Amino acid sequence: MLQNGIYHGPGSSPPGHFALVFLRADPAADAAAVDGQLREATAMLRALIAGTVADLPGHPVPSGNLAFLLGFGPKAFDIPDAKLPCPAALAPRFRFRSPRPTGGGPLLVGAGLSYAADVTRNDATEEFCLQFTADTSLAVSRAVVELWKLLRRGRDTATRTAPLEIAGIHTGFQRDDRRSWIGFHDGVSNLHSADRERVIGVGEGEAGLDSWTIGGTYLVFLRLALDLEQWEVLSRPQQELLVGRDKLTGAPLAGRDAEGRPLPATGCPVTGTTEVTEPGNEAFREHGVATDPVVLASHVHRANLVHTTDPGQSGSLRVFRQGYEFFEPVAAAPGFRVGLNFVSFQDSPDRLLRVLTQAGWLGGVNFGGRPGPDGPAGRLLSVRAAGTYLVPPVQDGAPYPGAEVFG
Ligand code: HEM
Repeated sequence: MLQNGIYHGPGSSPPGHFALVFLRADPAADAAAVDGQLREATAMLRALIAGTVADLPGHPVPSGNLAFLLGFGPKAFDIPDAKLPCPAALAPRFRFRSPRPTGGGPLLVGAGLSYAADVTRNDATEEFCLQFTADTSLAVSRAVVELWKLLRRGRDTATRTAPLEIAGIHTGFQRDDRRSWIGFHDGVSNLHSADRERVIGVGEGEAGLDSWTIGGTYLVFLRLALDLEQWEVLSRPQQELLVGRDKLTGAPLAGRDAEGRPLPATGCPVTGTTEVTEPGNEAFREHGVATDPVVLASHVHRANLVHTTDPGQSGSLRVFRQGYEFFEPVAAAPGFRVGLNFVSFQDSPDRLLRVLTQAGWLGGVNFGGRPGPDGPAGRLLSVRAAGTYLVPPVQDGAPYPGAEVFG
C-alpha cells in the first residue's frame, strides 16, 4: 500500500503547504542506530497528526491535516549492517549528476536542465527524505521543528553528533488560482485518477528482485528556479507557443494561423465557461494531436508525447505530478527567487529520466521550443536541488515503511 501524502484518489488534491526535509546519517551510525531514530521520529509524527506535541502532554494542538511520507535515497542502503541492497531502480545510472564544485553543470547527460551557477552542493542526495504536507504553514513548519528536537535528543554527549541530522529543507505551497509563476494554468493535465495508481505503484514487473518494494513508489524531486527576467521579455504569443496552451483560458493549441500566431483548440473553453479548468472542458485537459512543428516543440507536447498509449505501460513515460510552488527572499536583485518544487511519483524513476533526456521529449531542451540554450526559453529553468527516493510501501505491523532495511 502507498504511504500517505500522495493525493492521487478521485477528486483529491494536495493540501496547501509542503516541506521536504533531507536527513543525513552520521557515518558512524549503524543500521540499529538509524532504525531507532526512524522508529522514534515516525512515532512522534504520528502523534503530531493526532494533535499531540511531545513537550505538551494533555494539551492537544490542531494538526492542520498533517501527513508525512518517508523516502530512502541510494545512500540509505550503504549504512553499515543494512539488511537489503540498494534497489536496482536507484542504481548509479538512474541518479542525477552532482553540480560542479565551482557551481552549475548539467543535471544529466542529454538533459537541457543544468544546476544554477551558484549551486555547488545538492542536498537532495542525503540518505532519507521526509515530505510533510498540511493545510497550514504552521503544521508543516512545526513538524520540522519537532523533528529537529527529537533528533537533537539523540546526540551523543561526548561527540555531539546524532545518528540522523537535518541536512536540507525546501518548502512550497499550492496556488488557489491553479496557475504557475509563468502565469499559465499548471496541473491541468495530470492523468485520469483511474490510471494514477498504475503509474505510481511499483508492481511485480518493475520490482524484479527487489520484491519488498512492491506497492511502494519512487519520488523524484527537482527544485527548479524560474528566470522571470527572461520570461517577461517574451510576447504572449511567444510564451503560448513555448507552453502549448492559451495563456488566459488554458486551451491547448491546435496550430498556428497564417501569421504564425497560436490558434487555440476550437470549442475550448465551452460556451458559458472561461477557463479549461472549469467543468465541461474535460476533453481539452490533455492536449490533442498536433502536426504543427512549433506546437509539437512546446512544453506540454514534449512532456507528454504519446498521450494515446496506455499510461500503465512504462513506455508511455507518464508520471504523477504533485508539485509545489516556491517564493523565497534573496539578497540579490530583484530580492526574491520563484520557482517550482517539481515532485513526481512513478513506478520507476526511469520514466522521468527518459522524459528529461530523450530527443523529441525534453531531451536537450530547458523548458520548450527548440533544443539548445539559445532559444527564447533556453535558460528559463535552473536546478537548485535534485534527487530520487524510494518511498517504501506501508506494511501491516511494521514500525515505519521500509523498516525491513534496518530491523
Ligand atoms: C518550473 C518548471 C515548470 C513549469 C513552470 C511547468 C509548467 C507547466 C505548464 C504551464 C503546463 C501546462 C498545464 C498542464 O497541463 O498541467 C505543464 C504541463 C506539463 N508539464 Fe510542466 N512545468 C515545469 C517543469 C516540468 C518538468 C521538469 C517536467 C517533467 C520532467 C514537466 C512535465 C509536465 C507534464 C507531463 C505536463 C502535462 C503535459 C500534458 O499532458 O498536456 N514540467 N507544465
